Amino acid sequence: MKKQMLSLLVLASAITLSSCGSEKSNSSSIQQNSLEIENGKFCVGDDASWAGADVDESSWQDITNTTTWTAQGVRCENGFGWYRYHVTIPKSMLEKSDLKETVDFNMGKIDDADEVYLNGQLIGKTGSFPDDEGGYRGNWNTQRIYRVDANSDLIKWDADNVLAVRVYNGGDPGGMFAGPVCVRVPNTIDNLSIKVVEGTDGQGASCVCTLFSKMTDTKSGTFSVLVVDPETDKVLDEKKEEVSVNNTENSVISMPYDNHQMVRIIATFTESTTGLSTETQYIPKYILTPAAPAEPRFNTTPLYGVRPGSPIHFRFGVSGEKPMKITSDDLPEGLAINPDNGALSGSLPNPGSYTFNVKATNAKGETTQTFTIRCGSTIALTPPMGWNSWNCWGLSVTQDKVISSSKALIDKGLADYGYCYMNIDDGWEAPQRNADGTIAVNEKFPSMKELGDWLHSEGLKFGIYSSPGDLTCGGYLGSIDHELQDAESYNSWGIDYLKYDWCGYGRKHRTEPDNQTVASYVRPYLLMERCLRQQPRDIFYSLCQYGMADVWKWGHAVDANSWRTTGDITDTWESLYDIGFCQQPDLYPYAEPGHWNDPDMLIVGKVGWSNNLRDSRLTPDEQYTHISLWTLLASNMLIGCDIAQMDEFTVSLLCNHEVNAVNQDILGKQAQRVVLDGTIQIWARPLSDGSYAVGIFNVGKADARVDFRKYFKEMGITSLQSVRDLWRQKDLSTTDVNYFIPTHGVKYLKVTY
Ligand code: GAL
Repeated sequence: MKKQMLSLLVLASAITLSSCGSEKSNSSSIQQNSLEIENGKFCVGDDASWAGADVDESSWQDITNTTTWTAQGVRCENGFGWYRYHVTIPKSMLEKSDLKETVDFNMGKIDDADEVYLNGQLIGKTGSFPDDEGGYRGNWNTQRIYRVDANSDLIKWDADNVLAVRVYNGGDPGGMFAGPVCVRVPNTIDNLSIKVVEGTDGQGASCVCTLFSKMTDTKSGTFSVLVVDPETDKVLDEKKEEVSVNNTENSVISMPYDNHQMVRIIATFTESTTGLSTETQYIPKYILTPAAPAEPRFNTTPLYGVRPGSPIHFRFGVSGEKPMKITSDDLPEGLAINPDNGALSGSLPNPGSYTFNVKATNAKGETTQTFTIRCGSTIALTPPMGWNSWNCWGLSVTQDKVISSSKALIDKGLADYGYCYMNIDDGWEAPQRNADGTIAVNEKFPSMKELGDWLHSEGLKFGIYSSPGDLTCGGYLGSIDHELQDAESYNSWGIDYLKYDWCGYGRKHRTEPDNQTVASYVRPYLLMERCLRQQPRDIFYSLCQYGMADVWKWGHAVDANSWRTTGDITDTWESLYDIGFCQQPDLYPYAEPGHWNDPDMLIVGKVGWSNNLRDSRLTPDEQYTHISLWTLLASNMLIGCDIAQMDEFTVSLLCNHEVNAVNQDILGKQAQRVVLDGTIQIWARPLSDGSYAVGIFNVGKADARVDFRKYFKEMGITSLQSVRDLWRQKDLSTTDVNYFIPTHGVKYLKVTY
């Protein structure tokens, strides 16, 4: 993306005269009609006097508006915070504008509702606050552009102006983001903008590029859309039209593109009288995973752990044309397969290794896989794959929503790739326990037992959530003083997975005399482990306490199958980068079959933590990075979106059997970061067949070319025997190992050497 940063600095280093906004560029090189402000002062709380010019900010903290306050460590959920910026607005900006009519304050996006004051006076508001008539209404995803008349006395030219921003955060993350703030005296071209959205033109993928004008006067010029290969800069397709637009008439160019290739859409409008142009660049979703063959293909790891006597609920993951029959001639005694859906059920009374053949047959062919059940003390021999309700529905989860995502998991073929856990997160408990102390469900869950039975009949598994404290994070009832009763209820409903979230326990912990010790962190988790183990079924035990007291060092001791290593993830690059790349490098020694590090759930597809779902804010390349890194980390693979609304791109991300095979590799070794070279990181993981999964990540802001050979010595590679591109499922050259890796993207390889 082109961006002209002019050398003239005003006031502080954080304020630059510039063309403002990464998606815009102007053809004139002497544009100085705008300036950017990135850093300001910040305070949690709410005080009307903070809108004014005279406020003592000496105790306020420094903050940037490029990312949310949550990402900068501020804890302020369901609360107010204020930002203040001092800015000198040079009169020269007015002179540089051909219009000289208004001053625009582009505040970026604000999570969730805001009021902006200039020198004490309100100049704009988006969303509404809890005390407003009609109550709180958030609007986190709208770019705020507040406009002031350029002749108004409110603007102090060539002097200090104060911009004060009052923000209410209705659910983390919160605060200003997508900055820097931009102050601009608009030119004609600044009143024109291009929006690009993905769609289909009936034939295939296309991007719809719309040119909008804010002006009543009609403006004319050339509107062009290019499809460019970012690797070669080659223009793959181009459309150009002479158009006229005003505030009632837009112009639209629909541009088809091949959605199996990485491309950039560059839409430009050049206004004819001024010769100035505006440009928007867009990265559309692109699918790398090849379509599965019509013949049957097994996609799941042929190894499963169960304890003696525990009921088995498992589904053989087989892709290919339906209907399909799944059968076995040599099933161990006590087991049965439903041939129509591949659900395996039954139990094995005695420890041991049970090996048998499973056959999948459809109209196109037949295939057989040898399968082993290891009956012993260890379950979760590979990381769990499935779904959890939190990242999509938050506390608005219902039984119907769980059923709808479960059906979609089957219908869209995700169950054919091993996704099987269907986990209800917070929000299912009634406000009061039953008279006998057992836990009661709220009206959103008419019958846990029926839900569990139905999931099991499909070979899927059933998960639930609770807290060792009095209350969960969402304020629902926790298990304190009722641990055994709750474990018994879970058993009676057929629960296969418990996420046990610290939350309310923090209040009790603070009062404990030994709360400085690791033992005090272990205690509530050990207590529930003992209760779970008294149940006659295997319950995957998932610890959620955000990594406190180095949980990875003692998670095994409480027989946890996984433990969250960090705070909550959200669908931004900052969150993904922090959790994935900064907080995981030292944790690889602690993962092994049965016990996994959990860097939190997936943030692809439609998420929202509420009833309002949106497309993940990650770019397509960030999503490839996310899935690649999580598979390298041997992480829990819990889908966090509404599966019923899952698009083809997201299905392709989650259903690449070669990528998933890394996550499910039976050696169970988590990747180490083996190269850290500026913005290039290489993570590698040994696999059970003697090969390595290698992710070469570009965490920088610009596309990069990486010569893999440069790192051979550091990685101990003497002679490369084979290289396979896992996303494309294609063998690559062992001699030409020079790769284009887009910003925030990955080259994901399987190599032998
Ligand atoms: C958080 C937890 C989230 C989710 C939430 C429910 O503490 O980390 O993953 O479970 O509680 O309230």
